[in-house]
Amino acid sequence: EFKPLVFSGVQPTGNLHLGNYLGAIRKFVALQENNDCIYCVVDLHSITAQLVHEDLPGQIRSIAAAFIASGIDPEKHIVFNQSAVPQHAELAWIFNCVARIGWMSRMTQFKDKAGKDRENASLGLLAYPSLMAADILVYRATHVPVGDDQKQHLELTRDIAQKFNIDFMEHIRRGGYGIDIVVGEEPIHAYFPQVEPMIGGPAPRVMSLRDGTKKMSKSDPSDLSRINLMDDAETISKKIRKAKTDPDALPSEVDGLKGRPEADNLVGIYAALSDRTREQVLAEFGGQQFSVFKPALVDLAVSVLSPITGEMRRLMEDTAHVDAILRKGGERARARAEKTMREVREIIGF
Ligand code: ADP
Ligand code: NA
Repeated sequence: EFKPLVFSGVQPTGNLHLGNYLGAIRKFVALQENNDCIYCVVDLHSITAQLVHEDLPGQIRSIAAAFIASGIDPEKHIVFNQSAVPQHAELAWIFNCVARIGWMSRMTQFKDKAGKDRENASLGLLAYPSLMAADILVYRATHVPVGDDQKQHLELTRDIAQKFNIDFMEHIRRGGYGIDIVVGEEPIHAYFPQVEPMIGGPAPRVMSLRDGTKKMSKSDPSDLSRINLMDDAETISKKIRKAKTDPDALPSEVDGLKGRPEADNLVGIYAALSDRTREQVLAEFGGQQFSVFKPALVDLAVSVLSPITGEMRRLMEDTAHVDAILRKGGERARARAEKTMREVREIIGF
């Protein structure tokens, strides 16, 4: 039975937060039912912005623990660590030669992370999207669940796949390696598929609890700006109570959230956590003050997150178990990635 292939990754950099959970991990869990899924701890990505980590092995385990505690089944699907499969880096090198410098330097994430002193950013930070394209395409995956911030990188993945397919069209045909894919209206014989970003849902971009115009992020200096997956119930409650809001009651229509980014964010979080739409949430809470809505949001967030936090803590004590899952996942991923790389090397002429 054919099942679409899903790939996604999370960096082992610091605390996972509610944005990572709602924008990514929660979707990973839901997609297991009808897809073949590969979920990766992208440690090679984590050294692009920060080379030296306090405890990289511990951070890698904590992401794997978060995947499993959230409900990802590492037996039916694959959970592994990027650096265990050197084929990612090998394909990324080839993609570095396919992609153009101009494509990379236009990426907003590169501009944000490199800051003003761009000449001094690592070359890896510039080439990050090329490695991301390799992560996905080394499995020829077609579906990629991510938060809204990754949209531009996925467009670049499509551009890289397309340029490779066109540049090597004759070699692909000669080797008999192609698959028929549709680009626009035209079916073409290609090697790499066009990936489909899966960004929807009520919370594709969870915003900071302190400033509704900035995304919730691991690197925000204010811990009050985010809910971490490892926060206890009391901390979650404090952060939601202190979350910035406006003085008005909640509207009863989604249109009424326009120009109210903080209110919009909290309603989106509520909707995502309860698997409902914003419309449904406002049907229940429209006309209510934040003094009513916030305690309901606290209860909901704690009821969803605390079992995950508990399970994560348990798994992080059992390092041998998590390491064994990563090792087995790495072996399975490596076999699949090598199958692609054997063909890619031949297509190129190595
Ligand atoms: P971060 O952006 O927190 O450093 P990663 O780059 O590892 O973390 O991203 C992991 C996943 O979490 C990606 O799919 C990313 O799009 C998603 N993500 C990160 N921040 C948010 C957010 N504030 N809202 C929604 N999704 C997010
Ligand atoms: Na990100």
